[in-house]
Amino acid sequence: MQDIGIGVVSLGWMGRLHSTSYQRIPSRFPELGVRPRLVVAADPLDANQQAATEQFGFDKAVASIDEVLADPDVEAVSICSPNFLHRDFAVKAAQAGKPFWIEKPMGVSARQSREIHDAAAAAGVATAVGFNYRHAPAVQHLRELVSSGRLGRITNVRCWLNADYASSPEGALTWRYDREKAGSGVIGDLLSHGADLVEYVTGQRIEEVTATSDVFIPERPIPTSAGVGHGGIEVGSERGPVQNEDWVAALASLADGAHATLESSRVAHGHRSDYALELFGTEGSARWSFTRMNEFEVMLEDRGTEHGYTTVLAGPGHGDYARFQPGPGIPMSFDDLKTIEAAEFLSDIVHGTRLAPNAADGLAAAEVCEAVVRSAASRAWERVPR
Ligand SMILES: NC(=O)c1ccc[n+]([C@@H]2O[C@H](COP(=O)([O-])OP(=O)(O)OC[C@H]3O[C@@H](n4cnc5c(N)ncnc54)[C@H](O)[C@@H]3O)[C@@H](O)[C@H]2O)c1
Repeated sequence: MQDIGIGVVSLGWMGRLHSTSYQRIPSRFPELGVRPRLVVAADPLDANQQAATEQFGFDKAVASIDEVLADPDVEAVSICSPNFLHRDFAVKAAQAGKPFWIEKPMGVSARQSREIHDAAAAAGVATAVGFNYRHAPAVQHLRELVSSGRLGRITNVRCWLNADYASSPEGALTWRYDREKAGSGVIGDLLSHGADLVEYVTGQRIEEVTATSDVFIPERPIPTSAGVGHGGIEVGSERGPVQNEDWVAALASLADGAHATLESSRVAHGHRSDYALELFGTEGSARWSFTRMNEFEVMLEDRGTEHGYTTVLAGPGHGDYARFQPGPGIPMSFDDLKTIEAAEFLSDIVHGTRLAPNAADGLAAAEVCEAVVRSAASRAWERVPR
C-alpha cells in the first residue's frame, strides 16, 4: 500500500464527506494499493478545526489553505469551500502542483471555471469534480444501455432536480443566496448535476438552451450562527434579499439531435432530493431517480406483448455496486457515491487513469449553466460555447 497525504480545505458538509470517503478507500478499493492519510484540514472555524482532529483523525487543523499547500506531506487536496473561494483555491492548488478534487459548481461563473480548468491543465495536475450522481450503479447501467445501443437512437431526455432545502421562507440567508458568493442559485447548485448527468449518460453535448427562471422567496432572515450544509443555522429578525434563482426550467438541444428538458427547484415542497433522469430512445426507455437510488426502470421494445417498465434492483453486475454489497437489492448510500469519486480521483493521480469527472467536465457543466442564465435574461435560445 502506498500512503498518499491528503489536505481537505473547509470542513463543512462536503469537507467531512470527502474526509470519510478517503478513509474508506483501502477497504472498498484495495486493488488501488493506496492508503490516504488525512494530514491537514483547513477551516477558519475553531469548532471545525477541533472536529477535524478529534472526529475525523487529521494529524492537524489550520485556518488557511496556504498552510495546507505549503505542507510537503500533502500530495492531494480537496476543495470543499463555498463557491466564491473555489477559483482562488483551485488555482493556488494547481500552481503548488497539487492535484485537487473540487466541489461543484466549479467556479461561480463559466469564466472562473475556465480559469480553474486552464490552471490545472497548465500545471498538469489531476482533477476531480463533485458530480457524484454519475457514480450510482444504476446510472452507470443506464449509460451502458445507451452506449450499447439497446435503447436505439436517443430521441429525448427528461431530467429534473427538485429539492425543498430552501422551501421555508424562514431558512437562513446563507452564502448560497448571494450572487457574488454562490454565482447562480439552483442553476449552479443543482442544475449543474443535471447538465453533467444528461451529457454523461447520453454521450452527447448540450449545444443550445432556452430557459426561464424565477425567485419565489425574495428575502430570508440573516444567519447569526454557522452550520453544516443546510442545517443547524440560527437566524435573527433582520432579513436580506435573495439574489439568485429558486427555480429554473430549460429546453436543450443535444449534439446528435436529441432534445432534453431540465427543471430544477430548491423550493419544491415535499421533493426532498428528487433528482431524476428519463431516457427515451427508438427501441426503448429507461429511468432512474435518486429517491430510489438503488433501482432503475427499463422498457425495451423487443419484449413483444409484455409492454411496460420493468423495475430492476441494482446488484453486483452494475457499476461499482459489488464493492459495497455482496448481494443484489441491498441499498447503497449517497456517501458510497462519494467514496467511488475519491477512488477515481486517487486512481487518476497514482495510476494515470482518467476515471473521475474532471475539470473539463466541470467547465462543460458551467458553460451549460451560464447559457441557461443568459437565456433566462434574453428570453431567446443561447448557444453553449465549447
Ligand atoms: N456534490 C454534492 O452533491 C454537493 C452537496 C452539497 C454541497 N456541495 C458543494 O460543496 C461546497 C461546500 O458546500 P457545503 O454544503 O459543504 O458548505 P458548508 O456551508 O457546510 O461548509 C462550508 C465550509 O467552508 C468553511 N469556510 C468558509 N470560509 C473559508 C475559508 N476562507 N477557508 C476555508 N474554509 C472556509 C466554513 O467554515 C464551512 O465549514 C459548495 O461548493 C457546494 O455547492 C456539493
